[in-house]
Amino acid sequence: MKRRAFIGGNWKMNGSSQTLLELTREISAQLNDAIEADIAVFPSYVYLETVRSAMGNLLKLGAQNVSEHEKGAYTGEISAGMLVDIGCQYVLVGHSERRHLYHETPALVAEKFERALANNLKPVLCVGETKEEREKGRTESVILAQLQPVIDKTGIDSLRRAVLAYEPVWAIGTGLSATPLQAQSVHQFIRRQIAELDQSIAETLRIVYGGSVKPDNAKDLFAQADIDGGLVGGASLKAKDFAAICSSALV
Ligand code: PGA
Repeated sequence: MKRRAFIGGNWKMNGSSQTLLELTREISAQLNDAIEADIAVFPSYVYLETVRSAMGNLLKLGAQNVSEHEKGAYTGEISAGMLVDIGCQYVLVGHSERRHLYHETPALVAEKFERALANNLKPVLCVGETKEEREKGRTESVILAQLQPVIDKTGIDSLRRAVLAYEPVWAIGTGLSATPLQAQSVHQFIRRQIAELDQSIAETLRIVYGGSVKPDNAKDLFAQADIDGGLVGGASLKAKDFAAICSSALV
């Protein structure tokens, strides 16, 4: 079964109001209806409104993080309700930079996932192993340890409203993408795990690949049976490259 692709541009802590406005306009101008994908960009919080005001109707908006709390005395935090209020449809949860640099635990990621869904914000749940974990043959167990707390907390059904991103940490920002076959084998593993719990969710769940996706490797990655698009960092900051990656979803 062919699933509709999802492609996300994770802009991380980059850009200014001027450059992101231009980037948004340029990307929007290069997209067209023929691209069969949901395409979302994830600017930093402070530019969400700027980007929203400039994006055409083919782009969707997402945030890079969200509080696990609904509201209240949490200085510096941003709630899921606020993100929806200003037009976000998606939010990244469990990105490896949050897990590793900001010590977000699997339990906290599960709370954020739950909070997003409770506010009708679609979580893009990121999972992936480090180089060391891969070398020790622990890729699958690491991914399960990241996935299981989310399923335990919110139930398998919650995955109907989410996107999964497999992002091997060693491939993020390194220029060293996983090969299409390496990525496919992990995607297949994840889908099989989900299928053991619910076959129909496994068939419809979009599992996208992230980690040095570029215009020249996107097509081969997206052509794999269990890869349903990509989460793109560096290359999403160049309109031409990001548009080319999105066009690879045409296959
Ligand atoms: P990259 O980042 O494309 O620059 O490797 C991907 C990500 O962090 O989502």
